[in-house]
Formats: sequence, structure tokens, C-alpha cells
Amino acid sequence: MVFLITAGPTIEDIDPVRFISNRATGKLGVEMARAALNAKRHTILIHGPLSETAQGRMPKDGTLFSDIAVRSAAQMHAAVVENFCVADVIIMNAAVTDFTPISISESKLKKKTSGLVMRLKPTVDILAELGAAKTNPWRAGQSIIGFALESGSGKTAAQRRKSAHAEAVRKLNEKNLDAIVLDSPAEMGSDKGSFNVILRDGRVQSFKDISKEAFAEKLIQLATELQSTKS
Ligand code: CTP
Repeated sequence: MVFLITAGPTIEDIDPVRFISNRATGKLGVEMARAALNAKRHTILIHGPLSETAQGRMPKDGTLFSDIAVRSAAQMHAAVVENFCVADVIIMNAAVTDFTPISISESKLKKKTSGLVMRLKPTVDILAELGAAKTNPWRAGQSIIGFALESGSGKTAAQRRKSAHAEAVRKLNEKNLDAIVLDSPAEMGSDKGSFNVILRDGRVQSFKDISKEAFAEKLIQLATELQSTKS
């Protein structure tokens, strides 16, 4: 059983010194790679730039481990597509940047007193593309797990929880996934957090206030069980 895990942010360059990105650190994805390797699984980790802490937890090179570093969403897309065929379980944990500048300026943009309007274009939704490929019968044997980072909307905490859950279920169905992990901006960069794993049949497994290391182990176990029911 081969695991393909993505982690960290992607970076979209604007000019030689500026970029668009997000607060992802790659910690959870790196912990998942460690957990998969501990379970003696072939593991491919495709990651954007990692924080120092995440870098410090990177597994050592070994025969079971492929470490692929990328920078932009386009590079992550290419690396995932290249490795998709050999993977049984794909976990898209990366916080892929949704928009990228129409073009990268070769020279540093000069400050303009009148303000700056920048044109952005959407990046490829890698997960949606993989989910769509799974409609091909010979791909149906693969398990794809996505993440939904939601803050939820509404006035009360209960309303926000409900809307976040509904949004995760929408992404699960629209992207044709086997499971989706619902988390929130609070989990970004922290060592622990709360995660809801929503399965295709509607079952939910909740993990509250758990370390990323422990959650990674649980998710790899769950993914292994999901995949075992297919093969
Ligand atoms: N994802 C992806 N490619 C993108 C954007 C997101 O593969 N260009 C994946 C992420 O890795 C994650 C899932 O899609 O597993 C959901 O990401 P999220 O940012 O929560 O949602 P989006 O689909 O980008 O929608 P929105 O930002 O509008 O909530």
C-alpha cells in the first residue's frame, strides 16, 4: 500500500521578492508521513516550504520514503499527477494557494502612490482533478482523502459548526472523495487541534484537542482500513 501525502503551503511569486501564500506550516502532513513510514508503508511526501519545526520532524531518507519539495501550486500539481498512478492512498493535506498572479514580474514592482491592482487567476484544484479521475473504474481502487479548512459562518458557535460541516460534506461529494478531514484556521501552525473525519457514508469520527502526531497516526490507520476494504 503506497501513500501519497501532500503538506504545507504553496507559494505564488509576484516578483523576485514578493509572494502570495498562507499560514500552513506542513506539521500535520510531515507527522502523517512519519506515521505511514512507522507502519512500514511506501510514502511519497510532496510538500511546499516547511516551517523549521516541521522540517525538524521530516523522516530520514530511506528506501520506503520519497521526499519531493515544490514551491508553487503548479509545481505541486505536476508532482502529484506524476505520482498519482503509483499511489493507493492519497491524502491532500497541503494548503494549496487558490489564486496565482497572471504573470510573475521579472523585476521588482515599484511602489506606486496610487495603489496597486493585481490580476490573479485560479490555480488547478488538484484534489478535484484526482477525484474526477477516480470515476475511471481502474482508479476506483484508490482512496482519496481531502481536507476542508473552514471557519464556518453564522452568529452562534453552533451555527458556525453546522455550516462548516455542511461545507466539508459539499467538498467531499463535489470532489468525489472517500473521506474529508474538517479543521479550522486554529489548527494552522499549532501542535494540536480538533479534527472531524467525515466518511462518504456520513459517519463522523471526532478527535478533540489531540496532538497532530497522535491524529496523524489515527488518520493513517483509518486510511489503511478504508483502503483494505477496497482491495
Ligand atoms: N486543494 C487542492 N488544490 C487547490 C486548492 C485546494 O488540491 N488548488 C485541496 C486541499 O489540499 C484540500 C481541499 O482541496 O484537501 C480543500 O481545500 P480548501 O482550501 O479547504 O477548499 P477549497 O476547495 O480551496 O475551497 P475554499 O477555499 O473556497 O473553501
